[in-house]
Amino acid sequence: MNTILVGLQWGDEGKGKVIDYLCSDRDVVVRFQGGNNAGHTVVLDGKKFVFHLIPSGILRKDKICVIGNGVVIDPKVLIDEIKYLRNNDVDISPKNLKISPLSHVIMPYHPTIDALKEKDRAHEIGTTKRGIGPCYMDKVSRCGIRMIDLVDPLEFSLKLKYNLEEKNVIFKKVYNYEGFDFDSIYNEYMEYAKVLKPYICDLVEYFYQQKDKSFLFEGAQGAYLDVDFGTYPFVTSSSVVASNALLGSGLSFVKIDNNIGVAKAYTTRVGEGPFPTELNDEFLDFFRNKGVEFGATTGRPRRCGWLDLVLLRRSVIINNITDLVITKLDVLGGLDNINVCTAYKCKGESLKDFPYSLEGIEPIYKEFKGWDDDISEIREFSQLPEEAKEYIDYIEKFLKVKVKFISVGEKREAILSKNN
Ligand code: IMP
Repeated sequence: MNTILVGLQWGDEGKGKVIDYLCSDRDVVVRFQGGNNAGHTVVLDGKKFVFHLIPSGILRKDKICVIGNGVVIDPKVLIDEIKYLRNNDVDISPKNLKISPLSHVIMPYHPTIDALKEKDRAHEIGTTKRGIGPCYMDKVSRCGIRMIDLVDPLEFSLKLKYNLEEKNVIFKKVYNYEGFDFDSIYNEYMEYAKVLKPYICDLVEYFYQQKDKSFLFEGAQGAYLDVDFGTYPFVTSSSVVASNALLGSGLSFVKIDNNIGVAKAYTTRVGEGPFPTELNDEFLDFFRNKGVEFGATTGRPRRCGWLDLVLLRRSVIINNITDLVITKLDVLGGLDNINVCTAYKCKGESLKDFPYSLEGIEPIYKEFKGWDDDISEIREFSQLPEEAKEYIDYIEKFLKVKVKFISVGEKREAILSKNN
């Protein structure tokens, strides 16, 4: 069984936990885009693990985890993550972690450009300032440095020199910033190269020889952060949708059986950009506090709002979603009423078509009755309060896709299967 799993909103849908759950019966877990802008959280025996680059499947023994060519890698972050996992008794070696030689490397100048560009923009994007956008810019402008270049000292020094010659002039002229020194970067990155070299593997050939294995593709971010389909320009710099999974990993010989879409039972967003169902009243505090809505990567408080089914319907289509996972349903407990956006209006007029910009869009809500009970210990769908079941049933009907799993708490086992 081969599955692509993606986020259907603005990221932070709780994909890490779902990946950890689903990969129990898979052989290989693959990251195919993004970088350490992502923060996938898994709580295991009361201990919280946050992954930025390594697929969360690494927590299960005998799984092979892959960082594909579509990912941008900050080597320091990756090495720190390897050390952190080892210090927490997670087995990690070139046997279970494989890195594409074609993934691009985040260099020290990338986060700096990211931060400087943000200051200069008319409308800040609110990036994670991890250098993700600038690294992808170098990739498409064909001056990027790949993992295969990092582990070849001559190639690395030529590419670094070429980049610094150009970038240091831009830093000085455009941003009045001193720029970067070749020797210190070269020496630092050669140390990283030594550590990471054993993990580099020609994924195409390696997995082609074992194409009968079962693969789980782990998307990062969410559909509305996609560089094409998201709320551009308030998006990330990669293709986060399911159709990029094979391209971003080079494993195009794998036949995909299902595309799982993960959505929170409400909506959150970090960073700037339009958000039709955003709340700015006492409900914002309710979601932020009860749902612990603070970024796993930057710690920034997340913006919160009601579930938006208009957005979700479009994500389902774009990602060809065959199964849904609804997360954080427990967070809704204790509300008298729950709103769900089922249509949009603009300047007082109902919209028939999906708008190309979400600026100025107002939600039209359907109201649901809430429930009081704490549902975080429930493990059977049938045991959920009737109101919670109605909420889930409505989502299914509206989106015309079955809900496969519902997550009701942060613990690994706090997930229930909806047998349809
Ligand atoms: P960047 O990916 O750092 O360039 O940030 C671009 C936008 O995507 C910003 O609004 C970020 O807050 C958002 N973003 C990037 N990665 C994530 C994520 O993993 N979860 C939620 N938002 C993200």
